[in-house]
Amino acid sequence: HGTAQIGQNHHLWIGGTDTVELAKKYGTPLYLYDVALIKNRARGFKKAFEEKGVGYQVAYASKAFSSIAIFQLIEQEGLSLDVVSGGELFTALQAEFPAERIHFHGNNKSPEELEFALSAGVGCIVVDNFFEISLLKTLSSKLNKKVNILIRLTPGIEAHTHDYIITGQEDSKFGFDLSNGQADKALKEVLDFEHFHVLGVHCHIGSQIFETEGFTLAIEKLFGHFKKWEENYNYFPNVVNLGGGFGIQYTSEDTPLAPEQYVTAMIEEVSRQMHRFEGKELPELWIEPGRSLVGDAGTTIYSIGSQKEIEGVRHYVSVDGGMTDNIRPALYQAKYEAYVANKMNEKPCQTVSIAGKCCESGDMLIWDIELPKLTDNDYLAVSCTGAYGYSMASNYNRIQRPAVVFVENGEEQLVVKRETYEDLIKNDLPLKSNVFV
Ligand code: LLP
Repeated sequence: HGTAQIGQNHHLWIGGTDTVELAKKYGTPLYLYDVALIKNRARGFKKAFEEKGVGYQVAYASKAFSSIAIFQLIEQEGLSLDVVSGGELFTALQAEFPAERIHFHGNNKSPEELEFALSAGVGCIVVDNFFEISLLKTLSSKLNKKVNILIRLTPGIEAHTHDYIITGQEDSKFGFDLSNGQADKALKEVLDFEHFHVLGVHCHIGSQIFETEGFTLAIEKLFGHFKKWEENYNYFPNVVNLGGGFGIQYTSEDTPLAPEQYVTAMIEEVSRQMHRFEGKELPELWIEPGRSLVGDAGTTIYSIGSQKEIEGVRHYVSVDGGMTDNIRPALYQAKYEAYVANKMNEKPCQTVSIAGKCCESGDMLIWDIELPKLTDNDYLAVSCTGAYGYSMASNYNRIQRPAVVFVENGEEQLVVKRETYEDLIKNDLPLKSNVFV
């Protein structure tokens, strides 16, 4: 992936830096991000829109990996940002991300979060439900703020990897359903409110998607509904946000398209649908990639520790991290590939299973992988850990979250420090004397 290559010293190099040297310098586990790959993806998405002359925004879905440095990088690349909590919004503002390019998502934004977003002047709020509409009416009146709105719609299409399901009756906690009149009711409620400017609609059909059909079907459904909106409310959206979900290749089993191919298919389908709307201009198309911007740009380097061989059954090799820095194998049975970062020239000679260090049998990173012989001087590199790794990391077993280093063209920079023992107890308060005795 990206700039990863094998150096003359048989080490894994990324971004022109020796991952083994970085592991020694910063300790393990260590998340490395290939900055060139992130830039390349960001530019690829933008170019796909620009080549077709379509108005667009590419918003990085920051839930995939949020930190001040990644937000700065995304800002430099001219992307927008999708945040889903006060915490992500706060981090973005700390990174001096322009508020007008921030989109605020979520199915249960609190009054405090909405007020924070309004005061900060975010570019738009993606309204998800009737409770939120009424909260936002109260708050925008109270603060006397005008707010841009996207209405989150649930088109009744769920896509994941190769499969998509068309669900007649929606069953999702997100958004307004198209099929049962909720979407129409929502539109009516927001259209004429003086503090709202209804930019358009949003939908997100799933994640780690390998085909374009799910997206084109969703577009077909949405635009079918826009026809009704045009007739009944004389409304046509200026913005259609089609969400994220573009797949990446974790292992050779995964066969995603190039990011640009998803965009091109979307533009083509939207253009086709526009024939039904005479005299109307193509709406702006927005997307929200998370995984496809940062997923395969991330690699985690671990140190090898204990090994346990059960003759004829399994050979466990433990690393110094696990479900605390990558919960995806335990949570979703996600599959990963791994390399011995300091022995890239050695051929695989054994089948091992990579275990984490948490007190839980389910804390396994990889089952049955072919690797060279391993000792406790070796470093394991697990690729494609850039999305939903650090952002879903925990302190289970009071394990500190790892450090994050960005690399590019032989330059390295520590962008998130490793947590310390002190960090682990910083919110703990001792018992007062004479209480609970
Ligand atoms: N937009 C919305 C509204 C979303 O809900 C999501 C992801 C995205 C964009 C970005 O999707 P992406 O391009 O990253 O697929 N923790 C799971 C993934 C959860 C995705 C949640 N929503 C995982 O590790 O696979």
